[in-house]
Amino acid sequence: MSTAAYFDRLYQQPDPFQYRSRWYEARKRALTLACLPRQRYANAWELGCSNGVLTAELAARCDVLLGTDISSDALAQAAVSTREWPQVTLQCASHPEEWPTGRFDLIVVSEVGYYLATPVLALLARRLHGSLTDDGLLLACHWRHRFDQARSATADVHLLLQGDLVEAFAYQDEDLLLQAWSARPTSVARWEGLR
Ligand SMILES: C[S@@+](CC[C@H](N)C(=O)[O-])C[C@H]1O[C@@H](n2cnc3c(N)ncnc32)[C@H](O)[C@@H]1O
Repeated sequence: MSTAAYFDRLYQQPDPFQYRSRWYEARKRALTLACLPRQRYANAWELGCSNGVLTAELAARCDVLLGTDISSDALAQAAVSTREWPQVTLQCASHPEEWPTGRFDLIVVSEVGYYLATPVLALLARRLHGSLTDDGLLLACHWRHRFDQARSATADVHLLLQGDLVEAFAYQDEDLLLQAWSARPTSVARWEGLR
């Protein structure tokens, strides 16, 4: 079964990953949003946006936000989740083969990297780096435990995504790894003129 068909089948359920009902997921989104160093982002991209629950929360911090997903059924749900956010555009795309135009000051890769095998991930990372603005932030968040559909381990996913970027922040607990990198990470205090 193709990856798109696998996810399309999953999205026959309304919220297959239980983003709306699990405290684990709500807390993880809150951590992700709280860690973002900038108050607002001009042009952001969420890769693998699923049914748009995180997308809608990111939209509150973004002037323009692109959500992409390999599953058109996921995107149909994402369109409903984000209907109150006109700055959100949704596109069906299989990454890294298909790629959006433009450069982004924030790219979010949350719970999607481990679905890709190492050579594909390496290509994904290279293309992601090329799509960041000079001081853009690449954020990744992934479940740390193995599961049947995972083709890569989370630690390897994050190493590949980092490449030669500099770590901006990291949070880790028993279950998740949340990290972000940039070519030019900016301290929030410096950004606000506190030092
Ligand atoms: C577990 S969900 C992550 C949702 C969201 N980013 C979050 O963290 O709340 C993973 C999503 O990635 C999508 N996906 C998997 N492989 C993909 C690929 N190669 N290109 C684009 N989307 C992909 C799946 O369809 C699925 O909706």
